[in-house]
Amino acid sequence: MHSTVEKDKKTSYPKTMIDKITITRPDDWHLHLRDGDMLKGIMPETTRHFGRAIIMPNLIPPVITSNEARMYRDRILAARPVGSTFNPLMTLYLTDKTDPNDVSSAFADGLINAVKYYPAGATTNSESGVTNINNVMPVLEKMAEIGLTLCIHGEVTDPEIDIFDREAVFIDKVLNPLRLNLPELKTTSEHITTKDGVDYVKSQSKNHAASITTHHMMINRNHLLVGGIKPHYYCLPVVKREEHRLAIRDAATSGDSRFFLGTDSAPHLDPNKETGCGCAGCFTATNTMPLLAHVFDEDNKLKNLEKFTSFNGPKHYDLEPNQDTITLVKSDTASSFPEKIQTNDGPVTVFDPGHKVYWKVRDS
Ligand code: DOR
Ligand code: ZN
Repeated sequence: MHSTVEKDKKTSYPKTMIDKITITRPDDWHLHLRDGDMLKGIMPETTRHFGRAIIMPNLIPPVITSNEARMYRDRILAARPVGSTFNPLMTLYLTDKTDPNDVSSAFADGLINAVKYYPAGATTNSESGVTNINNVMPVLEKMAEIGLTLCIHGEVTDPEIDIFDREAVFIDKVLNPLRLNLPELKTTSEHITTKDGVDYVKSQSKNHAASITTHHMMINRNHLLVGGIKPHYYCLPVVKREEHRLAIRDAATSGDSRFFLGTDSAPHLDPNKETGCGCAGCFTATNTMPLLAHVFDEDNKLKNLEKFTSFNGPKHYDLEPNQDTITLVKSDTASSFPEKIQTNDGPVTVFDPGHKVYWKVRDS
């Protein structure tokens, strides 16, 4: 870290000005890459900075079997920019009919690093998800036995439960009973958005961790709704009130090894976001690292950025951190990021935090 005591003139926050930080290359522990032209168009946005990512399987149709995961992995590898060594960590989409033996052989072959649990109907392309957790207990028991992680979209889908309460109710009704029933199963609460989610992770001494997105650390529900609805801030789980944003931001910047980055960067074409029934997802792959540097700097926690982006995730997934590094620099002029990524499918809007950011990743 390169540090000076000079007062930062651009923003009021830093007391000690750090204007350069080199960290182990980060990973993204929750990423949507899609397929076809969209995959090709957005792939460089992730491979530019990240070494690896856990790839979400919610394609249409979803990636359910090991065979499908193998073919999807090949398509991802083929879409990498020339020279990229980015390593996609594959997942299987859990359904009521998933075969425990297919899961265990995929893990034994090194093909998958996790299984993804979507409650049926909880989010984008989750219709084939799990209708009742009891239906998948044989798979989960097998996973506990072999040490394979379950990534969980933790929201109930009961129409009577208010959308802002769905994460907290899921913890009480599904997650905690599951963890009591099968404590050997390694679980990841993905993209937590509430203080309840943070407190639950902190209450667990082993086999449980949570990923946190960049956007959930930066925006609350006022940003989404006040002054007009902002479709590019709509994601699932939906952003919550300010006290929840602060709780997850504190958890992320704390250095606690149970919290790590999962961007949930989720590209949708602009016409599918800017419409009467818009899709959920914020596309943050392009500028996540500068935005995180901004957040950690603002909170005077830059020393913990590397833990959050590069160390805590590999530890949870029993992997080694990446070998190489990236360098982030803060300059006097605001960084500029593309407003949209133009794919052969159409335009995808890049997440805009709504204020200037002075950090950027230095070209290597
Ligand atoms: O905002 C989201 N978008 N949340 C999800 O859970 C799914 C994702 C997507 O696939 O677009
Ligand atoms: Zn997701």
